[in-house]
Formats: sequence, C-alpha cells, structure tokens
Amino acid sequence: IRSKVIGCGSFLPKKVLTNNDLAEMVDTSDEWVVQRTGIKQRHIAAEGELTSDLALGAAQNALASAGIDASDVDTIILATATPDNTFPATAVTVQARLGITHGAAFDVHAVCSGFVFAMTTADAYIKAGLSKRCLVIGAETFSRILDWQDRTTCVLFGDGAGAVVLEASQGAGTTADTGILTSHLRSDGRHKDKLFVDGGPSSTQTVGHLRMEGREVFKHAVGMITDVIEDAYKATGTSSEDLDWFIPHQANKRIIDASAKKLGIDPAKVVTTVQWHGNTSAASIPLALDIAVKDGRVKKNDLIMLEAMGGGFTWGSVLLRW
Ligand code: ACO
Repeated sequence: IRSKVIGCGSFLPKKVLTNNDLAEMVDTSDEWVVQRTGIKQRHIAAEGELTSDLALGAAQNALASAGIDASDVDTIILATATPDNTFPATAVTVQARLGITHGAAFDVHAVCSGFVFAMTTADAYIKAGLSKRCLVIGAETFSRILDWQDRTTCVLFGDGAGAVVLEASQGAGTTADTGILTSHLRSDGRHKDKLFVDGGPSSTQTVGHLRMEGREVFKHAVGMITDVIEDAYKATGTSSEDLDWFIPHQANKRIIDASAKKLGIDPAKVVTTVQWHGNTSAASIPLALDIAVKDGRVKKNDLIMLEAMGGGFTWGSVLLRW
C-alpha cells in the first residue's frame, strides 16, 4: 500500500506586512532582513482570523484539487504549534466546519517539522489500514506568539496554511510507485531551550512568546538534517541526483541554500517561497509545494524530497513520487 497525494491546496491571510512596515515598528531595515533571511514580506492573520480559518481554506482548496467531497475523507491530521485553543484540537474544528461527522481528527505538534511529522503519521495510518483518505494540514498563526518588540524574532515569521489529501493506493513496492516512498523522523529534546515559547497551560498559564537563540538554531538547522536525508536515500536506493524537487521547510534563505549545498542538490531543484511568506512553521512546506504544483514546476512522476527542522529540536524527511 502506498499513500498517494491526490490533491493539494493552500491559504494565506490577505494582510501583507513588508519589511518596510516592520521598520516602522522595530529598529530594523528591509536591507538587513533580506540580507540575513531572504524574507521580503509575510502574511498576517486579521484580528479574529484563527488558525482553523486558514486551515479550512487550505483544506477546501486541497479537496477541490483532489476532486473529492469532504465526506470522502476519514482522517484529518493537522500540524500546528498555534492552535485556536489549548484544547480541543484545531483539527476537530476543521472537521466540523467541513461537515464531517465520521472518522477521526487530531493535531500533531512538532513545530516547524510538524508537516513532515503529520505526513509520516498519515502514511503510517494508511499503511496500517486505519485510514483510506487522509487530509493532512499544516496551519499556523505565529503572529500571535511573537514578541513584536523583539526585532531578532518578529521579522522572521508569518501566518498561513497548506494541505494535501493522501489516498491509499496499490503500489508495486518499487521507487517507481507514486506516493510516499519513505519517511524518517528524529528529535533531540536536549536542545529544547534553543527555540521555545515561554508560556503554556502547565507552566505559566499564559500563551507566551517565541524565544530563540538564532545562531545556535542556524548552526543546527544546517548540520542536523543530513541523517534523515541520507536515510531516505538508503531506504530507496536513490541519491540527490535523482531528485526532481527539494522542498525544505522555509525558515531562512541562507539555511535553505546552505542545506542544499551540503546535500549536493542543484539550486535549480530547490523550491523557495520564504521571500513571500517568511517562516510559517508547519505550513511552510505544503504552501511551497502547492505553489510549485500550481505554477507547473512539479509534474506527474517527479521525485520530491520534503525536509524540515524545528523546535525541540525535531527534524525529518519525506520522499515521495508525485
Ligand atoms: N534588524 C536589524 N538588526 C538586527 C535584527 C533586525 N531584525 N535582528 C538582530 N539584529 C542585530 C543584532 O542585534 C546584532 O547586533 P549587534 O552586533 O549590535 O549585537 C546583529 O544584528 C547581528 O545579530 P546576529 O543574531 O548575530 O545575526 P545573524 O547573522 O546570526 O542573523 C538570524 C540572525 C537571521 C536570526 C540568524 O541567526 C538565523 O537565521 N537563525 C536561524 C533562525 C531561524 O531561522 N529560526 C527559525 C525557526 S527554526 C526553524 O524553523 C528551523
């Protein structure tokens, strides 16, 4: 059994915040932000616009592109670090708003690696026979957990959502199959204080703000991901040359460029959207994927490597054939 992607979609809030807008709020400049991160602008959710609203938009677009009804989906897995509420899971709000009353919906929390963790979970559910059609969503409103006085973090992030529909399909068990070929997840909690939110229900009873040791995160982001990529090559007998597209988590252009270089991936095969969206955490990969599919870059049978690293630290890869 393979988990095949039968549709994808994304959704961005209307409001755009440029670097020049930010320069009116904190001591920064368009030049500094572009040079250090590649980010030119980000989308910010309007007041009252929730993670579930963005997730619903992306889900509806993904269902339309798959050409199926919401009722055909039996599982919703939503990756987010910025849920509407501490509980219930944001996935059940999306489930209700899609009018689905059967099956199961739950959230997965692995911060920027969330989408890769959610895809891997969905793939395991499908392979285990627990799901036939699974909606996998990455949705975030990081603008709500930023310290807008802290120029070292508030310039980096944005809001958005992306989604794919995975369907159980018969495969021959070779790398020529379409669908998820292999996935590899890792985490190492010793690094949990390098990138975290200083609040939460059990610790402070507040939502808190994002805190980060930028240089440490940068160093690890480039260094740590190699193992999960090599595991993917080993499991499938493929290599960087076989890839048609590399779609990494979109945190920072310098991290993306350095990672691709280290992995020996041709820059022409790297999908980069961080300049328009900033870092949208769990939403960044499905947003980038959707853009590359809709603009015609990703074609049937293309081999695609998804890769992410985030707070925890958590990191992972998903190798799939489109
Ligand atoms: N505008 C202007 N100046 C700034 C800004 C800003 N927005 N932010 C920091 N500075 C200043 C600093 O105060 C410092 O000034 P000083 O020398 O007078 O002390 C100077 O710029 C250099 O600061 P550094 O932090 O050393 O700059 P660096 O080159 O490391 O770039 C950055 C900072 C962009 C955060 C970088 O470390 C980075 O990209 N880290 C990775 C962080 C990341 O992407 N995290 C995303 C979450 S993790 C993930 O998704 C994988």
